Amino acid sequence: MLDGYHILTLTHRDASLDALVNTIAPSQNTASALQDLKAEMGWEELLYLATCNRVTYIFYSPNPVAETIAAQMLSVLRPDLSGFLMQKTAAQMRLIHGSEAVAHLLEVASSMDSLVIGEREIIRQLRQSYDQSRAWSLTGDHLRLLMGFTIETAKDIYTHTGIGRRALSVVALAFGELLKTGLRPEARILMIGAGETNALFAKFLVKAKFNNVTIFNRTFEKAQVLAQANGWRAFSLDELAYYSEGFDALLVCTGSTEAIITPGLYEKLLAGQPSKKVVVDLSIPYNVAGETVAAFPMQYIEIESLKETASENLAYREQERDLAEGLIQQRVRTFRERWHERQVERLLAHIPDEVKAVKDRAIQEIFGKEFAQLDPAAQDLVQRMLGYMEKKCVAIPIKTAKAIDLHGKKRMETQIQQ
Ligand SMILES: NC(=O)c1ccc[n+]([C@@H]2O[C@H](COP(=O)([O-])OP(=O)(O)OC[C@H]3O[C@@H](n4cnc5c(N)ncnc54)[C@H](OP(=O)(O)O)[C@@H]3O)[C@@H](O)[C@H]2O)c1
Repeated sequence: MLDGYHILTLTHRDASLDALVNTIAPSQNTASALQDLKAEMGWEELLYLATCNRVTYIFYSPNPVAETIAAQMLSVLRPDLSGFLMQKTAAQMRLIHGSEAVAHLLEVASSMDSLVIGEREIIRQLRQSYDQSRAWSLTGDHLRLLMGFTIETAKDIYTHTGIGRRALSVVALAFGELLKTGLRPEARILMIGAGETNALFAKFLVKAKFNNVTIFNRTFEKAQVLAQANGWRAFSLDELAYYSEGFDALLVCTGSTEAIITPGLYEKLLAGQPSKKVVVDLSIPYNVAGETVAAFPMQYIEIESLKETASENLAYREQERDLAEGLIQQRVRTFRERWHERQVERLLAHIPDEVKAVKDRAIQEIFGKEFAQLDPAAQDLVQRMLGYMEKKCVAIPIKTAKAIDLHGKKRMETQIQQ
């Protein structure tokens, strides 16, 4: 059954993030270290997953796994660790078996065990880890089956629950608020700052096809790089005070500890068009002076209120956890059935070839002379009859074996009664 699946893991729940990498990840040459580990431990298959939240060894071993396996594994993988550190780390690691291991992997993939619930990035990381482990010849049919099922489940959980809905990042929330103001793609946008946050904001603008963006940055070259990539204009921050083309929205996000958008500068930027503008300030401390906000009509979107929304959205995602847990329990039951069917397929994979060989031998050897004396129409009929028999004979054992699954006894009893 699923008893062959096991997980050995250390996550952000049990250890500091640097301890994850420094103690239970291979210290060098990952591929050969993992190949040696798999061989030494007698595991049939191994999938290695390392993210900033966890280092996890998912393995398949038909033999019973001792509860002391964490220490044994560390002594093979990390002989460089001191005895004390090895013992401490082994005690922190979690060992999970069978259907619970399957459930755990489904939870990981559905981002229910992540630092931030609903972060879909984990699906990509999991896929990448699997591809890597497969390329290193660590995995086989059991992990292939589990991985396909895991990705399918994670997508299902995201579709049928709200754990990944409602944005959490300040930039995504700010952009959502900006769109709510009804700003049109041709709107004149001034972006102050060309750091990571504004670069992320720029991606949202590009996706929504905003094309009239002018970037100002202390270091002109950085503004230029960001602007050129998107077909926008770039200026040095010093030139902001001389900008006279007016604007519809102002996005400010820099590391400056002093307000940049003072009332005097704002008035100049208005260029004689004092209508209500949209102003987004994602800087901490704020880059738009309080006096500016008070003095001019504006729709002001600032980071603190967005953080509140982010907390509310996180609470919403957490509420969806129970629903997701229920789905995962159902999915583990489905996987048990799929796993059984797959074992039957593998066990009986030789039957079609054997039945075909019997058919060919009958025609070519056992009844070869008689068959050769038949006219073409009769030969064709015999061929078709034997082909039909071949197909049916292959199907009988497969159908029977599939009936002997988890509910095997029950189904067999029903068949016998019939
Ligand atoms: N806590 C949050 O959730 C959160 C989220 C988003 C943003 N923020 C805030 O956003 C701001 C920027 O973050 P970031 O990640 O984009 O930083 P970043 O990648 O380091 O970029 C900083 C930007 O600010 C500019 N800058 C720095 N000091 C300046 C100064 N004294 N005068 C004018 N420009 C200056 C830099 O210009 P150069 O290119 O010339 O260096 C660069 O464009 C910070 O205040 C940060 O706290 C916080």
